[in-house]
Amino acid sequence: TLKVREDIKAQTARAKLGGGQKRIDAQHNKGKLTARERVEVLCDPGTFVEYDMYMEHTCRDFNMENEKYPGDSVVTGYGKINGKTTYIFSQDFTVFGGSLSMAHAKKICKIMDQAMMVGAPVIGLNDSGGARIQEGVESLAGYADIFQRNVMASGVVPQISMIMGPCAGGAVYSPALTDWTFMVKDTSYLFITGPDVVKTVTGESVTQEELGGAKTHTTVSGVAHRSFENDIDALLQLRTFMGYLPSSNKEPAPIRPCNDPWDVDVPGLDSVVPLENTTAYDILDVIHGVVDEREFFETMPMYAKNIVTGFGRMNGRTVGIVGNNPKNAAGCLDINASVKGARFVRFCDSFNIPIITFVDVPGFLPGTGQEYGGIIRHGAKLLYAYAEATVPKITVITRKAYGGAYDVMSSKHLRGDINYAWPTAEVAVMGSKGAVSIIFRGKRSEAQEQEYVEKFSNPFPAAVRAM
Ligand code: COA
Repeated sequence: TLKVREDIKAQTARAKLGGGQKRIDAQHNKGKLTARERVEVLCDPGTFVEYDMYMEHTCRDFNMENEKYPGDSVVTGYGKINGKTTYIFSQDFTVFGGSLSMAHAKKICKIMDQAMMVGAPVIGLNDSGGARIQEGVESLAGYADIFQRNVMASGVVPQISMIMGPCAGGAVYSPALTDWTFMVKDTSYLFITGPDVVKTVTGESVTQEELGGAKTHTTVSGVAHRSFENDIDALLQLRTFMGYLPSSNKEPAPIRPCNDPWDVDVPGLDSVVPLENTTAYDILDVIHGVVDEREFFETMPMYAKNIVTGFGRMNGRTVGIVGNNPKNAAGCLDINASVKGARFVRFCDSFNIPIITFVDVPGFLPGTGQEYGGIIRHGAKLLYAYAEATVPKITVITRKAYGGAYDVMSSKHLRGDINYAWPTAEVAVMGSKGAVSIIFRGKRSEAQEQEYVEKFSNPFPAAVRAM
């Protein structure tokens, strides 16, 4: 037994060294932490329990039988984040570039199965050169085994992907199937095919960063929900984010004790909406005013800014907030805003998070760009998400609630539980100018416009009908 003990010690030490000191140094020189260092930052101190530390790859080709590292290229296990059990895999770039072998995939599948069994979130820290080239189809099969589990776990336990290095080819689909994809600035990228293949196929010249860096995915493609400055920032913010989520669809939204009195007076809320209904304001001022301690974790803050989504707390309990933002594109709904809002609402609905919707929407964005892009089918996603959601839904109309967009934005008719209107609210089919030019075609007058404004530029037409 003494020999076995010595062997265990030696293998553990080897496993902890991953691909060796030289590769660890290279990882650090790129400004990145190692797989195990990341897990340490993410988890409450001393809580991580590692699985399968000695598992090796099974490849017998290309002399691979002579190059093995205990644990292979991924660290897996569970730990506590803010006291709550969370399953984690962290790809180890120092071992074969974090590439996915059959063993690597099996390790990930095992923690995903356990997470679903016990009802705990899964976090993936991605840093990988993709499929283990030497293993061929075994590696591809491994990806599909993970994808299948991503789908089975969807809506059952929260799944979060933090991209902390390369993630390319088929590997991108696991993050895409998870609920949240976050990225680290400058050191991470996601793409289906890299710049060289792009050049060959389409003739476009594009850098890795432009093609799939954090800026691209948080501003242009909408693939990632947030980006962070570096590994430490990303992992600490991920801890904060996890605090808003329940562990599974069987749990209510979590409560964090809070000293902010629920009935606190918020100076400024009565004047934040400008009197002139074409003047912009920032819906974030309203949101910060109503959530506990002004803390709001915004998701997709750089994408489709005409709609705001994110998590806050009220009386300690997590709430999901959606708000049209008149500061950007007058707060209108377009394709990107619809898709962003829909996915957020569906997540909240899956995980018992009440939804609060602030409405100030002049309608859907007109134009061929939107129509050809399919605004009808994308707008329907947001409508569907609200209509389907059975979590508590509270809606506050701060100003405009016009046209079909009124219906879509968590109206009472889509099972809104409580629908409030501020004194500045206007519920109408459209704005006064457009309305008057249609109903008084050719014989439009100031007086008629005024009559329309007086009739609809207040909350009473909706209030007297209890809508
Ligand atoms: N399979 C097996 N080994 C891989 C690998 C893969 N998919 N990707 C990287 N590696 C190995 C490299 O051989 C290298 O090994 P070494 O340390 O023994 O020299 C190590 O991982 C680090 O890779 P390296 O290329 O030196 O790192 P880099 O930071 O310069 O580049 C990548 C990273 C991911 C851009 C580059 O490795 C790459 O293009 N890999 C292939 C990506 C791919 O096409 N994957 C298949 C499609 S899913």
